[in-house]
Amino acid sequence: MSRHGPAEGLPAHPASTPAGAHPGILRRTLDTIDERLGIRAIEYPVPAHANRLAFSLGGLTAFALLILIVTGIVLAQFYDPSPTAANESVRDIVQNVYLGRWVRGVHFWAAEAMYVLAILHLARVYFTGAYKRPREANWLIGVAMFALTIGAMFTGTVLKWDQEGFEALGHNLELSKLVGGLGFWFTTGFSAQLSILVRLYVAHVSVIPGLILALLTLHALLVKYHKISPDPRNPGEAGESAEPFTHHLRRIGALGLVLLGGLGVLAVLFPPTVGPTPVEGIEVTRPPWMYWWMFTLENWAGLSAILWGGVVLFALLVAVPFIDRNPKRYWRQRPVAVSLGVLVLVAMIVLTVLEAITTPAEHLGGL
Ligand code: HEM
Repeated sequence: MSRHGPAEGLPAHPASTPAGAHPGILRRTLDTIDERLGIRAIEYPVPAHANRLAFSLGGLTAFALLILIVTGIVLAQFYDPSPTAANESVRDIVQNVYLGRWVRGVHFWAAEAMYVLAILHLARVYFTGAYKRPREANWLIGVAMFALTIGAMFTGTVLKWDQEGFEALGHNLELSKLVGGLGFWFTTGFSAQLSILVRLYVAHVSVIPGLILALLTLHALLVKYHKISPDPRNPGEAGESAEPFTHHLRRIGALGLVLLGGLGVLAVLFPPTVGPTPVEGIEVTRPPWMYWWMFTLENWAGLSAILWGGVVLFALLVAVPFIDRNPKRYWRQRPVAVSLGVLVLVAMIVLTVLEAITTPAEHLGGL
């Protein structure tokens, strides 16, 4: 039998063998594995409110990441990152690789889903005050993962090496000049051996996902260490039942499969496009929608506004747990923090809509 008893505060494992009965092969196999790996340690109790959709958004973000990694590995078998072949290889994946169009579509939509889910998760954490003591460090880890997610979206956009990807890179090359020496990695001259497209590919398939996975491990360990924050309406968790974490994981798995189904349908109905090889010296495309708020700022104040807009947003996110010292978590008791959060959200939505209804303007070379 396992050395571990049932998790503290929980009834015995539902499949546990009754006293005196002979354990079945499945139970014996599980017990043998558990004795060596201690897998039942993850059956620790979590409060019932952790199963609500709002508290499952982080788990769903992680599921979207899993879909991205699996589909990304498939795409990497056929994608060629050399500048002369990149655009052609994406079209080849779509037209000639078995299920290639669908896998690329799922990868594209999973990226959109991960971005939206991460923002919804961030908003849940913000509006339930879950970044307050002792969870400040985990908020900062989350901010870093969010920045990396945006980095993954950007590098992914460049990889298809069509006009949209090329102009996205053009913006970043110009922005890297603005930050002087700090932008060294982004300059085309940084490596005499490899083109910047190959280096962005390396960032997209190994550096960024590797960092996200390392931070996600820390993030999850800290959630376990601090326990999920209580429901702000019931901070003492009075009368709240608990369930093993494995049940919570099962729910996330079920929701994740629904997400995968939705992404699979989107990939069939709205497959992502890929344009022809890029033309230098023109600026005609609109960036992906998640950058539109920055591009409205660019239309108003020039290219450097993209940089400052991003710096201000991330400085605000980093500052949140240090500025807000009010220990209350229920939104009605935090009028200032809640109003500011709503204000930032509304401002970003308005800036996004403004870019959607504006003709793309030219800024590159206009520093
Ligand atoms: C980008 C990928 C991210 C993943 C995969 C992720 C995953 C998770 C998961 C699984 C949880 C457990 C509770 C839940 O699901 O709500 C969690 C909690 C938490 N996350 Fe994230 N997260 C991400 C980004 C962020 C961001 C952007 C922030 C904030 C800036 C953040 C801050 C936190 C905090 C403070 C907690 C503890 C919340 C509590 O105890 O109620 N996370 N995260």
